[in-house]
Amino acid sequence: MTREGNPWWTPWRVVDDVTVLHVDLMPNTEREAHALSLLDETETGRYHRFLSVRAKREFALCRGALRLSLAERLGCDCRQIAFACLEHGKPYAIVAGQTVDTAFNVSHSGLHGLIAITDRDCVGVDIEERAARRDLDGIGSFVYGQEELRLLRAAPDREKAQIFYRLWSMKEALIKALGTGFSLSPSEFEIPEPVLLGAPSCVFRFPHLPSESWRLLDMGERRFAAALAYRLSPPEPAQKPAAGR
Ligand SMILES: CC(C)(COP(=O)(O)OP(=O)(O)OC[C@H]1O[C@@H](n2cnc3c(N)ncnc32)[C@H](O)[C@@H]1OP(=O)(O)O)[C@@H](O)C(=O)NCCC(=O)NCCS
Repeated sequence: MTREGNPWWTPWRVVDDVTVLHVDLMPNTEREAHALSLLDETETGRYHRFLSVRAKREFALCRGALRLSLAERLGCDCRQIAFACLEHGKPYAIVAGQTVDTAFNVSHSGLHGLIAITDRDCVGVDIEERAARRDLDGIGSFVYGQEELRLLRAAPDREKAQIFYRLWSMKEALIKALGTGFSLSPSEFEIPEPVLLGAPSCVFRFPHLPSESWRLLDMGERRFAAALAYRLSPPEPAQKPAAGR
C-alpha cells in the first residue's frame, strides 16, 4: 500500500532535510490489522508479547507506517526491509543485505506518533502527551540539571506540565539522536539557555562530545510536546555496523 491507500500517517513538518511524519494512533481495528500484516516474524512476535492493548497499537501502527514510508523513499517493497539495532536498541534498516543510508527515528505517546526520516547520519525525535502527573518538581530532580530545575520550580502550577514535557521531549530527542537512550542520564546535560527561555531551536553540544554539534528543535503544539534533534557535524566514524555483523 502506498500513501494513496488510506494511510494513517501524514507529512507533518520538514526541517532542513529531515521529514517528520505524524502517525494517527487512535484505536482502529482495521488499520491495526493492516499494519500487523506488514510486519515480519520478529516484529509480530514482539507485538504479541506486549501486555497492553495500547503498547500493541502504538508499536504496530508506527512500525507499519515506518515500513511503508521507508519503502516508498527507498523504492523497494516494504517486506524487503529488515531492521537491526545498535548497542542501545536504536533501530536501523537493511535492504538486500545492505545497511541503508537513510536514518530514521520513531516516538509514540498515546494517540500520537512521530517518525523522522533523513539522509543525515543521526536523528532523534520524541513526542509526549502532557499527561497529568503529581510532583513534577520531584520527578524533575532526578532527570533535570540545575538550570532546568530552577526554571521548573519557579514556574506557576498552571505552567509546570507545559515546561516539564517541553524539556523532557528535548532531552529525549537528543539521547535518541545520539542513540544511547537512557544509558546516558538526562541529568548529565542541560538544554541551552535560549531554548530554556523559549527560543524554538539552537545548536547543541553534549558536554562529553564537544566537537560535535547538533540541531535541537522544539516542535511542541497544542496536542503534545515534541522535539527533534539531528547531527550537524562532524560525522563520527560510521555508527551503523555492516549488516549481518
Ligand atoms: C530509547 C528510549 C529513550 C525510548 O524511550 P520511550 O519514551 O519509551 O519511547 P519513544 O516512544 O520515544 O521511542 C521508542 C522508539 O525509539 C526507538 N529506539 C529504541 N531504542 C533507541 C535508542 N537507543 N536510541 C534511539 N531510538 C531508540 C525505537 O524505534 C522505539 O520504537 P519501537 O520500539 O516501536 O521500535 C528508551 O527506550 C531507552 O533508553 N532505551 C535504551 C535501552 C537500552 O539500552 N537497551 C539496550 C539493549 S537493546
